[in-house]
Amino acid sequence: MSDHPPFTREHYREAAETIRRWTRHRPQIGIILGSGLNSLADEVEAANRLAYTDIPHFPPTGVAGHVGQMVLGQLAGRDVLIMQGRAHAYEGISLQHATLPVRVMHELGIRTLIVTNAAGGLNPGWHAGDLMLITDHIGLSAMVGHNPLWGPNDDSLGPRFPALSKAYDPALRRLAVKVAAELGIELRQGVYCGLAGPAFETPAEVRFLRLSGADACGMSTVPEVMVACHMGMRVLGFSGISNVAIDNLDADEAANHEEVLAAGQTLVPRLIALLRGVLAAIPVA
Ligand code: HPA
Repeated sequence: MSDHPPFTREHYREAAETIRRWTRHRPQIGIILGSGLNSLADEVEAANRLAYTDIPHFPPTGVAGHVGQMVLGQLAGRDVLIMQGRAHAYEGISLQHATLPVRVMHELGIRTLIVTNAAGGLNPGWHAGDLMLITDHIGLSAMVGHNPLWGPNDDSLGPRFPALSKAYDPALRRLAVKVAAELGIELRQGVYCGLAGPAFETPAEVRFLRLSGADACGMSTVPEVMVACHMGMRVLGFSGISNVAIDNLDADEAANHEEVLAAGQTLVPRLIALLRGVLAAIPVA
């Protein structure tokens, strides 16, 4: 964990001001791209690109498969802000720092957040390359205290005790299911379990997670969703199942980051089609 003093609204405003000065785009929808899903940002028209290292207070990302730049422009006729890669707490920063980009999006006027990630499949019927709509999450590491909302609460941003009973907006989920059906894209639905990483799970942990009711697990997303919900943003989430989590000690394979990135490549065309369809139909406030 970094020992940076708590970030405040002043930090978020400073970052937002830098972004506003540098682009004429005024996005209403933010999208965060997970491991191996970077090429989705190549679809953006009239794109302005800004490295995270050029935005005050932004967390850098050093993980392979995460470019570390913001892309603003048009996708499916909507003004969007795309985060091409995200920072993770396991890189050695606080969760408050890792989720700062979501605070900055809110400061920019964005009220709809679409999160994507690469995830290990826990549901026994699923395969690498499957696409999952996140219906709900288990914030396992947040439940035991690794939580981005710890620390002083800024009441101007959201309540001390936010409700997460509809963290993934029901209307947006219905829309995603409808668009997927219209496009003939198979869309699984399930619960995402958020873990701290960076180690992959032991087989015993995989069996434990499955018993808990999780369909997929990964090392991101939950903190961002908690912060977005804290500020009343609407959230839609997709997991690309990049590998099947290994649940027995005798298996020859082992999970690895390379297979996660490779599966991303097979998922991207379907995810792009789905996101385009959702964006075109999404109501913006
Ligand atoms: N476990 C945790 N995180 C992941 C996995 C996994 O199997 N695959 C992609 N991210």
